[in-house]
Amino acid sequence: MLFPRSAHAALCGVLFLFAAAVQAQTAKLPNVTILATGGTIAGTGASSTTTVGYTAATVGVQSLIAAVPEITKVANVTGEQVFQIASENISDAQWLQLANRVNVLLAQSSVDGIVITHGTDTLEETAYFLNLVVKSKKPVVVVGSMRPSTALSADGPINLYNAVRLAGTPEAAGRGVLVAMNDQIHAARDVTKANTTTADTFRTTELGMIGYIQGGKPFFYRDVTRKHTVDTEFDLAKLDALPQVDVAYAYANVGDVAVNALVAAGAKGLVHAGVGNGSLPAKTKPALVAARAKGVIVVRASRVGQGIVARNGEANDDQLDFVVADTLSPQKARILLMLALTKTTSTKEIQRMFYTY
Ligand code: SIN
Repeated sequence: MLFPRSAHAALCGVLFLFAAAVQAQTAKLPNVTILATGGTIAGTGASSTTTVGYTAATVGVQSLIAAVPEITKVANVTGEQVFQIASENISDAQWLQLANRVNVLLAQSSVDGIVITHGTDTLEETAYFLNLVVKSKKPVVVVGSMRPSTALSADGPINLYNAVRLAGTPEAAGRGVLVAMNDQIHAARDVTKANTTTADTFRTTELGMIGYIQGGKPFFYRDVTRKHTVDTEFDLAKLDALPQVDVAYAYANVGDVAVNALVAAGAKGLVHAGVGNGSLPAKTKPALVAARAKGVIVVRASRVGQGIVARNGEANDDQLDFVVADTLSPQKARILLMLALTKTTSTKEIQRMFYTY
């Protein structure tokens, strides 16, 4: 059947207006890039009830995005597969690769925010590393899941949706790298994985998370006080490797075997995860003193999980020329010490950095 000319013109006009409206709305949406690195959020299990013993890092970034079509209504999303690993295997080289990619993308005016999908096992470490080396105020949100994509009540889709909403929110800018899990917003410096398997595993216990995401909308209640991102002195531009820093863990009746082995293996820095207020067991202390005499930087941290390791408290740090970790966990103290060692070997300067970041 032939349309009368006037009806055809009217239909074209309506279609044109509709297309223009869609285009205008899309143009208003934030541009968020999802950098996928693997983990359980990209994992698959044998059945919908498989929530342990599944395989991490099998689903690609385009499938992750396709599984949550709701995100395309709240952001213009593009995806990149940076690598595809279980996060216990992440390397310094991959951290550098990821951080450099984040910096390149955020320097582009067409990118408003970044979401990084990541395994939860070392998520807090990657988040803190990025918090120290990303050179942009734009939002960077790290997200994972505790249940694989094939599980009943998989938490990956809602976590990814929330992370994209957060990364596209101007209020998320300037707060450092954020972790979005389980409807909560955490600061990279202080969050930790606190339960082996439950969906509420990410916690910033005593210092407190900084906000919630409710109905897809972020709500902030606290600010991050330690310096981060554009306000750090760390510059990746000329770095192609990080110095070797290891962690020695204290426990009842511990000796000096681990410390001596780590020094012999070439550690430039050692974080001692001491008991209590970073105490040094008598059988370990001489090995740490000897390590320092060889030029190894020793940082006293605590395995307790909360609280400040007091300088000159359980050890005379001034005399021993040791550094204290402040409130950083041993695994995060390791990251700051690696970056510090790219700038200096002065313990005075390194201690300043631990009180700054
Ligand atoms: C991983 O960290 O890659 C596996 C565990 C997880 O993502 O929850």
